[in-house]
Amino acid sequence: NLTDTITINNKTFKRDDYTNITDKIVCLAQKSLHTTPHHPISLVRQRIVNYFYKTFLNSRRNPLFSVYDNLSPIVSLAQNFDSLLIPENHPSRLKSDCYYINREYLLRAHTTAHQAELIRAGLDNFLIVGDVYRRDEIDSKHYPVFHQLDAVRLKTKDQLFSCENDLKLFDCDDTACIPGGPTKQRCHTFEAFKLMEHELKTTLVGLAKELFGNQVRYRWVDTSFPFTQPSWELEVYYNNEWLEILGCGIMMQSLLTNVGVNNRIGWAFGLGLERIAMCLFKIQDIRLFWSNDSGFLNQFKDDDLKSPIIYKPISQHPQCIHDISFWLPEDKTDSLSFCSNDFYDLVRNVAGDLVEQVLLVDQFTHPKSGKKSLCYRIIYRHMERTLTNAEVNEVHQLIECAASDQFGVTIR
Ligand code: PHE
Repeated sequence: NLTDTITINNKTFKRDDYTNITDKIVCLAQKSLHTTPHHPISLVRQRIVNYFYKTFLNSRRNPLFSVYDNLSPIVSLAQNFDSLLIPENHPSRLKSDCYYINREYLLRAHTTAHQAELIRAGLDNFLIVGDVYRRDEIDSKHYPVFHQLDAVRLKTKDQLFSCENDLKLFDCDDTACIPGGPTKQRCHTFEAFKLMEHELKTTLVGLAKELFGNQVRYRWVDTSFPFTQPSWELEVYYNNEWLEILGCGIMMQSLLTNVGVNNRIGWAFGLGLERIAMCLFKIQDIRLFWSNDSGFLNQFKDDDLKSPIIYKPISQHPQCIHDISFWLPEDKTDSLSFCSNDFYDLVRNVAGDLVEQVLLVDQFTHPKSGKKSLCYRIIYRHMERTLTNAEVNEVHQLIECAASDQFGVTIR
């Protein structure tokens, strides 16, 4: 934090009191796993894109959907939140959850951030694929960068009802409704809503079958998003548990009218590519996607997209476990001024992918002094080799020093 600017992908930004992006994240923002040939994330992208290409054809039998997989992950708060009707006080805007570049820009937290601008540009059927960034815990299922695929499909009255001329899309032009509500939006006619819901759900069940096989068990769960109503999650039964694989819904009509679309109704969904790749290829640790190990990458070289690949774990190296305990400074004992995600980012920044997991194992407040103490357990394990005690000790000490420097904590 010595300079007052920050450079990401050759663009320079001013830092301000919102800046919380770390060097480690700036580094990760240069990769493009979702377009790297044969990378497992890219294989899942291709399978989903191919499903859309063959399922939706225009009258000249060409694919209807266009694919945007090269949009910059640097977006404005207007793109990531406002254009999607996400309210000012919504928890997804918190500094503890997003990587902010400054008060105006952040690394997108979902690929949905581009939805409104592409609709404004005149597109009706499109997919967006890209890297997304969220501050979160450290374990085998979470990584601060992951990949999403979003889809939007807009239909006019004639496209929806095949010129059945008495039917209408809209009952009234009142697009106001309680955001996140469970029922259809008031402005939509029942028949328009039902046809859209039906097409959305059959498309997504078809996608689940394409990926997981015809026998897949699935269920729909009601949910809410600020930008769709109603909204659902699709869960598939996998490894003896229900796994959420995507969120979707009927697009908020006011989102469309805000970008100048008055004669169409839309559906949209978004899914995470890592979770699907981890299931399909039986990959146990999300850090593997970022590995350069040829023992990992060569397993995905098959050119036949449909041939099942089951990843064979490269040998597991031993874990090395160290705890770190510290007193918070007296002015930082409330949860707002210090959050675990701050500590997790520090660990990622200092130790990178040497760390497999970080757990908050103990916290207590001293009855007399009122001081608060936290203890985190850091589990070190390299993906590709055995770590020596000496190097783990060194990294662990660096984490201790960085924590006392950056947060003013006292190591116990
Ligand atoms: N953006 C949502 C997420 O990240 C997914 C979503 C996209 C839901 C589009 C509905 C419509 O979870």
